[in-house]
Amino acid sequence: MKIKAVNGFKDILPDDALRWQMIEKTARDIFARFGMREIRTPVLEKTELFARSIGEATDIVEKEMYTFVDKGITMRPEATASILRAFIEHGLHVKQPVHRLYTIGPMFRHERPQKGRLRQFHQMDVEVIGATEPQVDAELMAMGQMLLDALGIKVSLEINSLGCPACRPAFRDKLIGYLDQHRESLCSDCRRRLETNPLRALDCKNRTCKALVQDAPSILDSLCSDCNDHFSAVKETLDLLGVSYRDNRFMVRGLDYYTRTTFEFITDALGAQAAVGAGGRYDGLLKQLNGPDLPGIGFALGMERLILLMEQQEDRTPPQQTTDLFVAALGEKAAVHASMLVHALRRLGLAAAMDYSGRSLKAQMKQAGRVNSRFTLIIGDNELAEEEGILRDMNSQEQSRFSLSPAVDEQAQQMAAILSA
Ligand code: HAM
Repeated sequence: MKIKAVNGFKDILPDDALRWQMIEKTARDIFARFGMREIRTPVLEKTELFARSIGEATDIVEKEMYTFVDKGITMRPEATASILRAFIEHGLHVKQPVHRLYTIGPMFRHERPQKGRLRQFHQMDVEVIGATEPQVDAELMAMGQMLLDALGIKVSLEINSLGCPACRPAFRDKLIGYLDQHRESLCSDCRRRLETNPLRALDCKNRTCKALVQDAPSILDSLCSDCNDHFSAVKETLDLLGVSYRDNRFMVRGLDYYTRTTFEFITDALGAQAAVGAGGRYDGLLKQLNGPDLPGIGFALGMERLILLMEQQEDRTPPQQTTDLFVAALGEKAAVHASMLVHALRRLGLAAAMDYSGRSLKAQMKQAGRVNSRFTLIIGDNELAEEEGILRDMNSQEQSRFSLSPAVDEQAQQMAAILSA
């Protein structure tokens, strides 16, 4: 029996890899414009880190983590907790007051795989640690929007405020009071959530629950004046920066660490997987992890979902890898010459290729096409004897002579000059 990849884990094949590279490059360019610096953390962390940050009563911690139970370690389901762990462990806060960090890499959640939902997926995650200002919240959303625009992906931005430890408990009580009156109509998940995580009822997918919460108290009416001012300033700044958004008082997020601003980039083009990216503020989390009492905010974009959306847009053909020069060598001597020339060209920074199998000219020209070669240099025994190869421009099909008489390094220099002309 053939061995296949594990369900929910996917290969990224060479035809697709260039698109991944392009997305990462675009992200890195834009992140750098916003002063973000890269951090890379391990994929394994102590299980306790996620239980204490994401929250014991969340779907992620309750049922989606890949945990080595005998070792007490877990494959990271997200990046925020890991970045904060590293931040605290290395005392980064003593170096400067505000840190702007990003990471790109695989995350692992044992969810039911479907379109846009995998068990190993990739996030581009950004965190700003040490800044309380609402302008930073807006700046991050503007950065996310800039990146999505650069990738040609259309989404809408939805925002909410989840309040803070000063105002959320009163809202929680109000909400429990309301939900309790309708206990009989709630789905079994929400009945359970009433005790553990009542806010999650607000974004329950069940139809009856959805209808019920329309009349539930709104968190936005319960915000304390500080949270209210913060939220207003976030929106004012988004207006100033020309970023469009929509209030969504039902957005509560599936991770417990959020305070105040939360946001999601939403699409209706991916069925049930509406969020392309999401994040928010987590002002108490560093302290909760025994770190310095610093605020933080961040978000993550799901790369598989970005790619699905890009593939749906017909006008964007995937990028292709190209070769500067393919050398078609006919005969043993020609092949020796070709291998030296190809190596010298590669040393000069060019993408050069050849075929070692001694196949016919026709087969080699086909191979040159497959590797998207801009030029092909044909060297047969005759050409070697006359010390002149035939250089073919693969686009125009025009042919010219290329001298093989100087030393190989000099030939490479001359070729490089022709290719860059
Ligand atoms: P999250 O909402 O759990 O937030 O995930 C962020 C994004 O990751 C989602 O919007 C989605 O695009 C992608 N994603 C999540 N799960 C999957 C999956 N199973 N398959 C494919 N894509 C998926 C977080 O992870 C927070 N750490 C974000 C954050 C950063 N908050 C503050 N800083």
